[in-house]
Amino acid sequence: MKKQTEPKRHLISFDSRTFSHIFTDVLIIGSGVAGLSAAIQASKHNSVMVVTKDKIDENNTNYAQGGIAVALSPNDTIINHIKDTIEAGQGLCDIASVKAIVSEGPNRINELINWGASFDKEDDRLIFTQEGGHRFARIIRAKGDSTGNEVEHILIRTIKENNNVKVLEHTFTIDLITKNRICYGAIAWHPKKGYILIWSKHTILATGGCGQVYRETTNPDVATGDGLAMAYRAGATLQDMEFVQFHPTTLYIAGAVRFLITETVRGEGGILRNKKGERFMPNYHPKAELAPRDAVSQSILKEMQKTDHTHVYLDVRHIPKERLYRRFPKIKEICSSFGIDIAKDLIPVRPSAHYIIGGIKVDYLSRTTIKQLYACGEVACTGMHGANRLGSNSLLEGLVTGYIAGTDACKSIQKTRRELLPYTIRKSMGLSKISWLDLNDIKNSLKSLMWRDAGIERNERHLLEAEEMIEMWSSYVMDKEFSNPAGWELQNMLLVSKLIVTSARKRKESRGVHHRTDYQKTDNIHWKKHILIKK
Ligand code: FAD
Ligand code: SIN
Repeated sequence: MKKQTEPKRHLISFDSRTFSHIFTDVLIIGSGVAGLSAAIQASKHNSVMVVTKDKIDENNTNYAQGGIAVALSPNDTIINHIKDTIEAGQGLCDIASVKAIVSEGPNRINELINWGASFDKEDDRLIFTQEGGHRFARIIRAKGDSTGNEVEHILIRTIKENNNVKVLEHTFTIDLITKNRICYGAIAWHPKKGYILIWSKHTILATGGCGQVYRETTNPDVATGDGLAMAYRAGATLQDMEFVQFHPTTLYIAGAVRFLITETVRGEGGILRNKKGERFMPNYHPKAELAPRDAVSQSILKEMQKTDHTHVYLDVRHIPKERLYRRFPKIKEICSSFGIDIAKDLIPVRPSAHYIIGGIKVDYLSRTTIKQLYACGEVACTGMHGANRLGSNSLLEGLVTGYIAGTDACKSIQKTRRELLPYTIRKSMGLSKISWLDLNDIKNSLKSLMWRDAGIERNERHLLEAEEMIEMWSSYVMDKEFSNPAGWELQNMLLVSKLIVTSARKRKESRGVHHRTDYQKTDNIHWKKHILIKK
C-alpha cells in the first residue's frame, strides 16, 4: 500500500494580521448539552464565548428522544447505575470516570429542574422508563419523546440570561491555535465577518459526534466530526475510534430523513418483526427486544440478510392507541407524515450510525493531552462507555462533563491570573487552490463506503479496502485549500473516517459495538486495552 498522507497542521494558510481578533477568557466550541453546560459554569467568573456552526440549537442534543439515565428513582441506586454501565462497557470502562459521572448525575438533573426543565411526571413524581441493558427503570424524559429539545432549550434560556456569555452562531471553527502543545484559541469563519482569530485562556471543545461519515445515520448534518479532526491535527491523543454505536431502529423510508425511533418504544413493549411478520429477537438474545443495542443491531442485520430485505419492522399495534399517541407524540407525527399510523401499521426500521464512543482522550477533569484545551460530551472519550454505551447515558455524560470542564477552566483562570498574549502567526501550508471537485460526490461515496466497509459488521478485507479508498480520495482532497465549510467538513470527514477505519483494523477481536466477522471472539489477553491514536 502507498505511504499514508498525514494531514497538514491547518486546513488553511493564513497571516493572523489579516484577521479580525476576539478575546475571551473561555472559548467554547459547540452549543449542545456539553458546550452550554460548560458555558454556564465557566461564566461564573469569566467571559465566555460560545461558537457554533449553525443556529444554536442545531445539534444532536436537540434531537435526543428517549431520555436521560439517572439514579433518581426510589428503588434505584447510584451503585446499580454504575454496575450496569460497567457491564455494558465490556471490560473497557474507566471505572473512576463512570463513578464520577453517574454520581454527579442526580445533582445536575436537579439543577436543570431548578432552572425550569420539565420532565414528564405522574402524580407529581418523575416517571422512569427502562431501556436495554439497564436493570432498573431509570430513564427520565420530557414531552414524551423530545427530551433533548427540553434540555437544550432550558440551557439556552439560562445562557441568554447571562451577561458573561456571548454566542456566535453560524460561525465555523476551522482549527485550534497551539504553540508548544498549549492551546491559545481557534480560527473561525463567519459568512459575513470572514476569518476571525479567537484568543482564549482556555478552550473547550464540545463539537459532538461524527455520524455524518455514514450513509445511514440518526445524526443531523452538523455532526461531521470537526472537533475530532481539529484536535488530531493539533496533536491531541484520540482513543477507541473504532467504537461506533449503531442504533437499532431508525425509520426506513426511501427519501425520508433517517428519523430515530427511540429505544423506549421497545421499553414500552414494542416488538421487532421480520419481513414475514415473525418476531425474531428471542432467537438471538434472552432479553429479546431489550438486549443491549449492539446485540439488537447485529440481530436485525442478520434477519435482514436472512430474509433478503432492506429492513425489519417495529410493531406497537398491541399498545393502546391513546397511550401510544400520548407517549410518543413526535414519532406519531413524523410517521403519519409518511402515511404510517403507528397504532395500526408496522413501522419500517433498520439500524444506523448513532454515536461515537471513542473520541478525544480526556482525564477526570475533561482535560485533553494539550494544555488549556478541554473536551466534553460526545467529542470526548472519558472512558465512561467502554466498548458499548448504555442508552440515555450520553446526555448525562454531556451534562456532567460540560459542568466539570467549565468548573475546572474557571478555577484554573482564577488561580493563575494569566493575561491573554496574542502573537502573530503566519502559516503557509503549501496547499493548492481548488481545481474542480464535486464535493458532494466524494462525500456521498465516502458515506457509502463507511456504511459498507466499516459498519455494524467489519472484516480485514473490507477495512483494508476502505483504508485504501480513503487514502486515494485524501490524496487529492487534503492538499487543497478550501474557503467554505463544505470543503473543510469533507476534509474533516475524510480524516475522521480514516481514524475509525485504522483503529477498527487494529482491533483484531469483537467487543461491544465493534463486531469483526473474522475475529468473532472477545480476546481479553491481547485486546482488553484502549487504542490510542495521535498525529
Ligand atoms: P451536540 O449536541 O451534537 O453539539 C455539538 C455542537 O457543536 C453543535 O452545536 C454543532 O453545531 C457544534 N459544532 C460542531 N462542529 C463545529 C465547528 N466546526 N464549529 C463550530 N461549531 C461546531 N443520548 C441520550 O443520552 N439520550 C437520548 O435520548 C438520546 N437520543 C438521541 C437521539 C438522536 C436522534 C441522536 C442523534 C442522539 C441521541 N442521543 C441521546 C445522543 C446524544 O444526543 C448526544 O450524544 C449528545 O447530545 C451530544 O451532546 P454534545 O453537546 O456533545 O454534542
Ligand atoms: C433513544 O432514545 O433510543 C436514544 C437514546 C440514546 O441514544 O441514548
